[in-house]
Amino acid sequence: MSTSTTYLDESAYAAALASDVRAGLTAAAKTLPPKYFYDAAGSDLFDQITRLPEYYPTRTERAILEAHVEEIATLTRARTLNEIGSGTSDKTRLLLAALDRAGTLERFVPFDVDPAVLAEAGAAIGAEFPGIAVETVVGDFEKHLGLLPRHPKRLVAFLGSTIGNLVPAARHDFFAAIRSTLAPGDHFLLGTDLVKSPARLVAAYDDAAGVTAAFNKNVLRVINRELGGDFDLDSFEHLAAWDAEHEWIEMRLRSTRDQVVHIAALGLTVAFGRGEELRTEISAKFRRERVVEELAAAGLRLTQWWTDPAGDFALSLSEPS
Ligand code: AVJ
Repeated sequence: MSTSTTYLDESAYAAALASDVRAGLTAAAKTLPPKYFYDAAGSDLFDQITRLPEYYPTRTERAILEAHVEEIATLTRARTLNEIGSGTSDKTRLLLAALDRAGTLERFVPFDVDPAVLAEAGAAIGAEFPGIAVETVVGDFEKHLGLLPRHPKRLVAFLGSTIGNLVPAARHDFFAAIRSTLAPGDHFLLGTDLVKSPARLVAAYDDAAGVTAAFNKNVLRVINRELGGDFDLDSFEHLAAWDAEHEWIEMRLRSTRDQVVHIAALGLTVAFGRGEELRTEISAKFRRERVVEELAAAGLRLTQWWTDPAGDFALSLSEPS
């Protein structure tokens, strides 16, 4: 059985894109939200990023999951797996298979902003796990978490360190929204990339093959297509920088010349000076104490903390406190 619910239809997506782009490009320090990287081309580029030699998070998180997935199934005995920001749901199959083997799995509820990727992943998983219900939900995890179906014995998974895209105040709101959907017996599985040498971090966001650069510029392509923009992609260069104070990586696009960009659908003209930088993403890196504290502040008690031997990435399990 398979159902799909949309909290973010095309017109809501278009309205959010328009207002986010206007706000971001008219701010004193220009910025764009990372969620608009992920059209079909952007999701594909991200998929390529996960296989780059420099980009350790995906393969490291998968190794941690492989090592502990039976334990996760035993500890949670989850009947519903609810994945937030599910994308291609690659690593999720490990969780689904373990819960299936444990004999508790009844339902998979993937939640993502990209309807195409969600439909594809939902159909594939429905075929691989014919005994379970698949309920795909299209939504924005900063707006629609409260609407998630509250099936009992839920494991909510937020993998890949996507949490790192949010600044601390937004993380608090996110964790609080997750917490408010959880009942006793439910669990929250969180993937967090950890603080490490700036050189490795910067390399992970500025790969030699230039895939991350193409991914970064894809947000300009999305604006050109969806809002009638005339960004010249060749006049911006990709940049990744470690912010030691905030402990996050910033991705930026730097204007290589003085230029004026028009965005027809917004009736907006935006001037960029030569060297001016547009921030397109933050990717926060964590330490255990910070994860424990932030979860606790939202009413979540951390019960397990798993890392790879090198301590590059962590998975944590928490429950309502
Ligand atoms: C999908 C947000 C986890 O921050 O590492 C990868 C996105 N950006 N390379 C990350 C990303 C550049 C990724 N997340």
